[in-house]
Amino acid sequence: MSLSLLDKIPAQLGLVALVVGIGFHAAVVEGAALKQDAGPENGATLLNHSMALVQRMEALLVQGNASDVTLRVQTTNSDEVKVIQAHGLVLSLQSDVFDELLQRRNSSTLVLSETPDCAALFDKFIRYLYCGDISVRLDQAIPLHKLASKYQVWSLQQGLTRYMTQHLSSDSPTGHVVNWYQYAVQLGDAALRDSCLQYLSWNLSSVMQSAEWGSISGELLLSLLQRSDLILQSELELYDALEAWIGQNQPSGLTAENALRSVRYGMIPPQQLFRLQKQSPLMLKYYESVRDLLFLAFQFHAASPIQLAKYFDVNCSIFTPRNYLSPAWGSPWVINNPTRDDRSFSFQTQLGPSGHDSAKRVTWNALFSPRWLPLSVRSTYTEHGAMQPTRIDNGRPRVIITPATSSPDFAGVGFQKTVIVAAKQQGKVVVRHVYNFHQSTEETGDFLVDADLQRRTSEYLIDSSLYLHIVVKPLYHSLIVSRK
Ligand SMILES: *[C@@H]1O[C@H](CO)[C@@H](O)[C@H](O)[C@H]1NC(C)=O
Ligand SMILES: *[C@@H]1O[C@H](CO)[C@@H](O)[C@H](O)[C@H]1NC(C)=O
Ligand SMILES: *[C@@H]1O[C@H](CO)[C@@H](O)[C@H](O)[C@H]1NC(C)=O
Ligand SMILES: *[C@@H]1O[C@H](CO)[C@@H](O)[C@H](O)[C@H]1NC(C)=O
Ligand SMILES: *[C@@H]1O[C@H](CO)[C@@H](O)[C@H](O)[C@H]1NC(C)=O
Repeated sequence: MSLSLLDKIPAQLGLVALVVGIGFHAAVVEGAALKQDAGPENGATLLNHSMALVQRMEALLVQGNASDVTLRVQTTNSDEVKVIQAHGLVLSLQSDVFDELLQRRNSSTLVLSETPDCAALFDKFIRYLYCGDISVRLDQAIPLHKLASKYQVWSLQQGLTRYMTQHLSSDSPTGHVVNWYQYAVQLGDAALRDSCLQYLSWNLSSVMQSAEWGSISGELLLSLLQRSDLILQSELELYDALEAWIGQNQPSGLTAENALRSVRYGMIPPQQLFRLQKQSPLMLKYYESVRDLLFLAFQFHAASPIQLAKYFDVNCSIFTPRNYLSPAWGSPWVINNPTRDDRSFSFQTQLGPSGHDSAKRVTWNALFSPRWLPLSVRSTYTEHGAMQPTRIDNGRPRVIITPATSSPDFAGVGFQKTVIVAAKQQGKVVVRHVYNFHQSTEETGDFLVDADLQRRTSEYLIDSSLYLHIVVKPLYHSLIVSRK
């Protein structure tokens, strides 16, 4: 991908002035006449030679004509030295750090010391300062970002942060998101860190099956395990991946215990818990550290969760579901030509994850309206009663999910619905949004606000269909929320 920042760099005006100065001396003498805004005036025709200008700047760097500073780039722990003939004016225009280094120097050479990964990309970096564009590969993002940060080239730094945020789902042989996460943490860039964390959370099944999984740090593993918004097949899948990670990384006993205590055992059926308890080498090793949680999980499976809550004061996450894709928890829903009309759909889930309830089924009716009007808007329409019933463009999409029948079993249970929305990014299907609500997406206020489903090219349409996955999560407030 190519970042073209030509129009966004404030220093660009300076660059224009510089090259105009090289080419047409007379114009610079009357320099004050140079207009600050580049747009053509009324009635004037724009002659645009920006591309040629960039080429001349590049040639200036390559040929080193009239160079007034030599950059000697030394590589840490190596004798390799890279020499670049540069121009102080260009460097100073783009970077305050270069400006200061140039003012303080006492020879025509500036000695710079860089790590090997940064030194390897130093030419590319300097070329950006001359030309204002740069091509970036996934593995080059971090070293270039380091250089942009060190020399305070903010436009490049921001461009690279945006590039990383938009390329989380790109294919790479060994994975890159975990590295980007570690870098963002080290840098203190909370926005990039959170984007990486969200991507890993929402794509956890793929990540757990990839080679990248083994390379995540204990700290990242623990922060993922705390999250309720993980999207994965089942809690058992998470346990298996955890076992693989611990086998590969051999962390300290404390990290292993903390990780094991973050598994939500209540969400694993008792038959599977028996197997883990007797056959998982990890469980056999750390059994004493999680014995209380396993006991609690078996109690949870033995009776109705509401009964359990009557006798025990428990307050822990092992009863809180994550976003499980397995069929007991919900269903995919592919809506073809979503703008056409309202659609309805029925599916079944278990009443709850407790062994007491998991065989009982609840039938849900889901309704999708592409252009539903909020009450406030609807009333203004009826006022102008005569208005032709044309397409109502300002209607909003909405999903409502209600149980087909009611049951005494629902007492004390809040069913939280989650709609996972997929979209196409860089030609790939990725999770784009996760919306939580109780009955209707109206509650979230922003359901598919920027999906623009009318547009054939909307990234939310995959082969002209909207790809949703609905998860129904029974929440026992008496178990999860502290009891008074
Ligand atoms: C001038 O041309 C370049 C590429 O040829 C283009 O990117 C740029 O937007 C043009 N500038 C204006 C002011 O139209
Ligand atoms: C650099 O100098 C050479 C020889 O003096 C000249 O041919 C070339 O056009 C110059 N390059 C630039 C970019 O001015
Ligand atoms: C300037 O030169 C002196 C002596 O030659 C040297 O000690 C000093 O470190 C130099 N300063 C810089 C900023 O390179
Ligand atoms: C998850 O990541 C894999 C690559 O690791 C990618 O192929 C896939 O499209 C991603 N899926 C989602 C839902 O983000
Ligand atoms: C219950 O757990 C939550 C989250 O861990 C915590 O904020 C809250 O203080 C706990 N309440 C009690 C009564 O322990």
